[in-house]
Amino acid sequence: MADNGSDDTKDQISPSLEIVNNDSSADELAREVEETLTLSQRHKFWETQPVGQFKDLRDTTLPEGVIEPPTPISEVKQEPYNLPGPYEWVTCDMGSEETCAEVYNLLTNNYVEDDENMFRFNYSKEFLRWALHPPGYYKSWHIGVRVKTSKKLVAFITGIPAKIRVRSDVVSMAEVNFLCVHKKLRSKRLAPVMIKEVTRRVHLENIWQAAYTAGVVLPTPITSCQYWHRSLNPKKLIDVGFSRLGPRMTMSRTLKLYKLPDSTVTPGFRKMELRDVPAVTRLVRTYLLQFVVAPDLDERDVEHWILPKEGVVDSFVIESPETHEITDFCSFYTLPSSILGHPTHSTLKAAYSYYNVATKTPLLQLMNDALIVAKQKDFDVFNALDLMHNETFLKELKYGPGDGKLHYYLYNYRLKHILRPSELGLVLL
Ligand SMILES: CC(C)(COP(=O)(O)OP(=O)(O)OC[C@H]1O[C@@H](n2cnc3c(N)ncnc32)[C@H](O)[C@@H]1OP(=O)(O)O)[C@@H](O)C(=O)NCCC(=O)NCCS
Repeated sequence: MADNGSDDTKDQISPSLEIVNNDSSADELAREVEETLTLSQRHKFWETQPVGQFKDLRDTTLPEGVIEPPTPISEVKQEPYNLPGPYEWVTCDMGSEETCAEVYNLLTNNYVEDDENMFRFNYSKEFLRWALHPPGYYKSWHIGVRVKTSKKLVAFITGIPAKIRVRSDVVSMAEVNFLCVHKKLRSKRLAPVMIKEVTRRVHLENIWQAAYTAGVVLPTPITSCQYWHRSLNPKKLIDVGFSRLGPRMTMSRTLKLYKLPDSTVTPGFRKMELRDVPAVTRLVRTYLLQFVVAPDLDERDVEHWILPKEGVVDSFVIESPETHEITDFCSFYTLPSSILGHPTHSTLKAAYSYYNVATKTPLLQLMNDALIVAKQKDFDVFNALDLMHNETFLKELKYGPGDGKLHYYLYNYRLKHILRPSELGLVLL
């Protein structure tokens, strides 16, 4: 239930187990994860992997850092893992229009849904190409599984390279994403093979750690974030069942509650341009230093990840009208969801808060301007996780908590304690 008592928002990511609530302390988190363990299943696959194990949660004698040291690359398995007979591995060239369309179709029909199967992520082709082609990407990390006879694409997993800082340790990692198995091939233990294969290909590039997120609880989250949703088009959100009219609320009161100004309020607010890359890089690098886990971004990364890309990522800077200095910036990415089985609406247009840095403008005002431009661009909803400093504006800007969690994980890197979401400075797409 939203705090303003006006509406109740569903979430798009659906964990099977909710283990934390928003205000849990790290200790409570640890206890709740342990309880989850005793209550629930073993993890036959994840128990074999170099990840923090539930049983070790309270064991503070275990050191932080790498769990298994790297081996010589010559000792990394040289052939792909075995797949069941009818299937074969392929490397997906996302630069090929045809392959990109196949991946798009697989994900559009089989990727993440909410708990009630009302919405499914609908990453666009342009988004997928952007997400998978950062500086230094490896084509071999974009992995598909096809049916040998028909060549139909039935599973997918990807990695991209990233430098992630954990405390003072900057680590070369893979960010693993877009794990998807066709609905007809579920529960056949294909996912562990996909994960082992991407791990093998990552090892072949002499990279030994990874970062990933999931809506499900696995051993062991470094933190668990909650999604919050800010209605921009409340009528549509209610029509499609994303939100409900709050108690004692009418539609007209709801529309009034979420109404935003027609234009942004901060002087010097403008779209980010190529010439802003050095200033934005300085801002984001300094800002991210305060988090325990955050990406280590250079100018090339900022140009790729933060410079606006039509229909994919939007970014705005505040240029001081007096000094022309870039003092703040905000950004969001575009990730629509398909609305499943609705008679009139097929797509929910959602903006997701990305990296935001305020040094002169109050963060609340900057993020209100982000809402205003998102509304101008016809987004239906603005989503944000409770990581970084987002908690400081969510309630005040009329976001309501979603009912899903997003758990963050590191592979082959242990942290002694579960982090608070506000200690995390990493947004994965
Ligand atoms: C996620 C998905 C690929 C898992 O495949 P599946 O057929 O359901 O499961 P499988 O039988 O192949 O494998 C089960 C193992 O994978 C693990 N697993 C399931 N989802 C996972 C995830 N998102 N990330 C990592 N591991 C996952 C399970 O925990 C289990 O391992 P365990 O026994 O150690 O616990 C599949 O359900 C899917 O495509 N879902 C829709 C898209 C999606 O949710 N993708 C993940 C986004 S984070």
